[in-house]
Amino acid sequence: NGSLLATPAVLGASGDLAKKKTLPALFSLFRLSLLPKNSRIIGYARTKMDDKEFHGKFADNLKDGKDGEKEEFLKICNYVPGAYDQDDAFQNLNKEIEKKEKEIGSKEPQRLFYMALPPNVFTVVAAGLKKNCYAEKGHNRIVIEKPFGKDLESCQEMMGELKKLWKEEETFRIDHYLGKEMVKNILLMRFANPFVEAGLNNQLVDNVQITFKEPFGTEGRGGYFDEFGIIRDIQQNHLTQVLSLLTMERPATFSAENIRDEKVKVLKNVPAIKEEDVLIGQYSAANGKPGYKDDDTVPKDSNCPTFAALALWVNTPRWQGVPFILKAGKALDEGKVEIRIQYRDQGKGLFEEIPRNELVLRIQPEESIYAKISNKKPGLESSLVPVELDFKYNARMTDYRSPEAYETLILDALKGEHSSFVREDELNESWRVYTPLLHAIDAGKIKNEKYEYGSRGPQSLNHFIGKYGYDRRGMEEYSYPKTS
Ligand code: BG6
Repeated sequence: NGSLLATPAVLGASGDLAKKKTLPALFSLFRLSLLPKNSRIIGYARTKMDDKEFHGKFADNLKDGKDGEKEEFLKICNYVPGAYDQDDAFQNLNKEIEKKEKEIGSKEPQRLFYMALPPNVFTVVAAGLKKNCYAEKGHNRIVIEKPFGKDLESCQEMMGELKKLWKEEETFRIDHYLGKEMVKNILLMRFANPFVEAGLNNQLVDNVQITFKEPFGTEGRGGYFDEFGIIRDIQQNHLTQVLSLLTMERPATFSAENIRDEKVKVLKNVPAIKEEDVLIGQYSAANGKPGYKDDDTVPKDSNCPTFAALALWVNTPRWQGVPFILKAGKALDEGKVEIRIQYRDQGKGLFEEIPRNELVLRIQPEESIYAKISNKKPGLESSLVPVELDFKYNARMTDYRSPEAYETLILDALKGEHSSFVREDELNESWRVYTPLLHAIDAGKIKNEKYEYGSRGPQSLNHFIGKYGYDRRGMEEYSYPKTS
């Protein structure tokens, strides 16, 4: 059913995710008239407060509204306080929902439950909702977001619990990277451009790096982060999703199931990561910034990685032998997410030592796609100069706007469109790839190398990447101009 649901309920409405992402995204959709006219939004959480206090929690995060739009939006946002583990509290929520449905004259309940909640209450809330707030006649959808367990076993356990209550077509598992404009572009760009697609294979590509860098540390969230670490936080989900989209074969259609079938298929060809293909790091105090362990909530003997570089192998005929280096780190020198495809050396003979071609898809900040090529240096002599074919969204796409990831995803969930959500078998395959490595790190078998807050990462990073063939020759001239 492609119709929009009209009554989103945001569970965990007083928390950070709701305040920073979910409610602002709903506001954006409201402003763009993409929420059905008669939508009502109900916030639900344990904190006792009235509507006004609820509005006060997130109103400052509602941006770009024209005159009166913010006030109009707040009018449709109500709050219901209640416990996460009591039937009568959920029945109370249900009464509120029914009241709203009556108010808007809804003939068939259309309910979307957005779980902006910590993982320890996921299953109990999902059960409470199913038992007390599920509309037998109508549509019900539930949106959940990571962490989906901590390894293959705990993920399967959690998904198993949810599956008993909510059907796959009712369940929307968010990986917010799938809502990012450039990530959504990958399949379109690949399959609409023969020269791009023809260059994505082991005949031409030497190595690929998928990089996530953040310029800040865990900043007070250390205790929470310590249970997970960077690999569970970034590589296992966000970067693996990017990897599947980049390496999957052409789907028969762009339908959700066709796309996800191909993503699962390619992931099945990725073996579990070997310990020799791993470099992990943890940041230490530098430049006036605290080290990871300076956070009082972090255990002093923590071996939790805040940086990781991992080489993954995709054993399909197309990609056999090409290393995919997935790098992610906090407290680094810059904030950037990109895919960097480095092509093989040009055959020797005509040329000596020329830099390699690269194709870079910058996911953020400032989406762009650029290729590094060698070109004749203009003039009377015959020599080469490295240049860029450069496409920047903020220069070329000035008539368009890149939506926030959560806007796209919530709109898709409202429409019942699953292609940008994670299917259960994708999760299983991804956890299978990471679980042995994560267990080895948790057991202290692989040690972190220290790196300074604000640096490029551990000292041995260049050596690590070099092992997989990454060639930095000519990279100085190639460096992508920084924009302000
Ligand atoms: C989240 C991680 O999934 O992604 C955070 O838990 C991280 O640690 C965030 O900061 C990054 O998201 P974005 O959209 O800012 O790249």
